[in-house]
Amino acid sequence: MFNKLLGKFSKDLGIDLGTKNTLVYTEEKGIVINEPSVVAVNTRTDEILAVGNEAKRMVGKTPGHIQAIKPLVDGVISDFEVTEKMLKYFIDKAHQESFTLMPRPRVVIGIPLDVTEVEKKAVEDAAKSAGAREVFLIEESMAAAIGARLPVAEPTATMIVDIGGGTTEISVISLGGVVAWKTLRTAGNTMDQNITQYVREEFNILIGEQVAEKTKIMIGSATELKESMDMEVRGRDLIHGLPRAVTINDAKVREAIGRTLSQIVENIKSTLEVTPPELVSDIYEHGIVLAGGGALLRGLDKEIAEATKIPVRVADDPLTCVVRGAGILLSDKELLDKVLTPGAEEL
Ligand SMILES: Nc1ncnc2c1ncn2[C@@H]1O[C@H](COP(=O)(O)OP(=O)(O)OP(=O)(O)O)[C@@H](O)[C@H]1O
Ligand SMILES: [Mg+2]
Repeated sequence: MFNKLLGKFSKDLGIDLGTKNTLVYTEEKGIVINEPSVVAVNTRTDEILAVGNEAKRMVGKTPGHIQAIKPLVDGVISDFEVTEKMLKYFIDKAHQESFTLMPRPRVVIGIPLDVTEVEKKAVEDAAKSAGAREVFLIEESMAAAIGARLPVAEPTATMIVDIGGGTTEISVISLGGVVAWKTLRTAGNTMDQNITQYVREEFNILIGEQVAEKTKIMIGSATELKESMDMEVRGRDLIHGLPRAVTINDAKVREAIGRTLSQIVENIKSTLEVTPPELVSDIYEHGIVLAGGGALLRGLDKEIAEATKIPVRVADDPLTCVVRGAGILLSDKELLDKVLTPGAEEL
């Protein structure tokens, strides 16, 4: 199969099919799609009404017969048909962006480290039925590390922690392979749930998912801030059933998401504990690199650095690391050969 890799990949696509966001990369134009992984479906007719940004605007605001579906849960496909349609929509749109008539593309796509054969096959099949001629599966953490320009193929270890919406992946990479790792189903969505729960318990107010996420992004932090921040959140009063607003501050949000953050930190520490000592010393030298949207939480780098006593930095543009890594592999077939994970049907 590697002979097929000899052709140039320029019309081909790198894809990050995330729980929260899907991104598509073309060699010619870089990132052409960066939209939420959401599809709005009319449940009466099964018709797809909108995908991505347009569908996200409908989340939580749809009438009974319109459902906003998130076809991925915790990093893996939970609704195959909808995922396939969503991918097809994004692939078609990516091709429209590049103004040429495209043959069926080859696709490099990231998958979580702990996927089952069935889940792996689902990603492959979804990409194929969405129009891909050939599908190359790579580990998302590997893609993130490549996107963050870490020396993944060298005989030196690096640690990448990708904190997404549904999953946190902690991996130690050396010589083109993942040598130690942990995947948690605890990530950005869990922090949003923590905030929702806090507001409900503290104020008897039910807030929407997007309000919780916005609160986290606007005033969330892992360590104390120089200047305190607060914001007004609106939801439904659970006693009176009427809308009500309350003000919460960064300290309360920190308290709410604290459990989730310590779970991430503890797992980074325990991954280091099972990493061979020579590799730990490499990691100490290069530092730990954070990727994924969760890396943008204020002070998270500092918190992890303090807990592990290892320098930590946030990758440039952490939300796009995985897709940029997949994109780099479109034009570096030597590296792709090194890091490719076997497709489901080959096993
Ligand atoms: N500035 C920010 N501060 C804190 N969290 C943020 C920020 N920006 C984005 N996020 C969070 O990052 C998460 C999305 O990250 P990302 O796009 O990397 O996830 P994903 O790749 O779709 O999910 P997964 O990798 O789990 O499948 C969301 O939970 C979002 O709320
Ligand atoms: Mg991701």
